[in-house]
Amino acid sequence: MDLEGKRIVVVGGSRGLGRGLAEAFAVRAAEVTVVARNAAAVQGPGEQPAVTAISADATDVDAAWRIMEQTRPDLVIMNAGAEPPMERIDRIGWEAFTTNWNVDVKAALHWVQAALTLPMTPGGLVVLVSSGAAVQGSPLSGGYAGAKRAQWFIAKYAEGLSAELGLGLRFRVIVPRQMFAGTGVGDTGIAAYAAAAGRTFAEHAATWPDMTPRDFGDMVADLIGRTGLAGAMVYAVRGDTGVTVIE
Ligand SMILES: NC(=O)c1ccc[n+]([C@@H]2O[C@H](COP(=O)([O-])OP(=O)(O)OC[C@H]3O[C@@H](n4cnc5c(N)ncnc54)[C@H](OP(=O)(O)O)[C@@H]3O)[C@@H](O)[C@H]2O)c1
Repeated sequence: MDLEGKRIVVVGGSRGLGRGLAEAFAVRAAEVTVVARNAAAVQGPGEQPAVTAISADATDVDAAWRIMEQTRPDLVIMNAGAEPPMERIDRIGWEAFTTNWNVDVKAALHWVQAALTLPMTPGGLVVLVSSGAAVQGSPLSGGYAGAKRAQWFIAKYAEGLSAELGLGLRFRVIVPRQMFAGTGVGDTGIAAYAAAAGRTFAEHAATWPDMTPRDFGDMVADLIGRTGLAGAMVYAVRGDTGVTVIE
């Protein structure tokens, strides 16, 4: 998939891993639109990616449809997610437990539904950003791991429906299989697991491969540019092992 000139929407692209993705696609000459509740943050300090910014809540079904209609993307990356409330299973309340279901899963459902129903132009690709927690669990983050695994099922069901309806769309999952210091979800997780292990934040962050959000964005953009994600359904991305196929 040649990324040059492709219309790419990065939902949750103003900060963290999403910003790394938006920068990586922008330098590959794609036409990038970033969606975030405060999309203006993408023009903050550091390198200024050449992107169009739209402020919207990704969990708002009307916004998903409106932006998909307006941008007519070739590729949508649904990366938006909430920082999970970090609490043990014996202490967490239902409201906190379901935080990532009400943001990450809800947003994934609405954007996938818009892709299937508008529908996106044949050849379109929708990528959901999940988490390594979906593979091995995350005992300190309540319903987070289950929510990130539910995104795999949404992608698989949508893939099946696209084939059944002859839509020619692909739905895939990228699993960042490590924690990234300097991101919202990463810093939240690192701080909680560091405290539980009696380590400092820096000591715990150092147990993960050294990888920046931009490194992550470059790895994903190269993978999509090289393969179009045609070969598998779920891919893991990690600083030391690179890209591996999960299924
Ligand atoms: N960081 C990690 O270590 C790590 C590891 C594994 C998986 N992940 C997954 O990777 C994704 C990104 O994580 P991150 O740590 O990079 O996140 P982050 O730094 O907290 O940034 C989240 C991004 O999503 C946007 N966002 C959040 N809620 C939104 C909503 N309701 N509507 C629209 N945009 C919304 C934020 O902008 P606004 O706040 O302005 O809306 C921001 O652009 C998440 O799905 C996370 O579960 C992260």
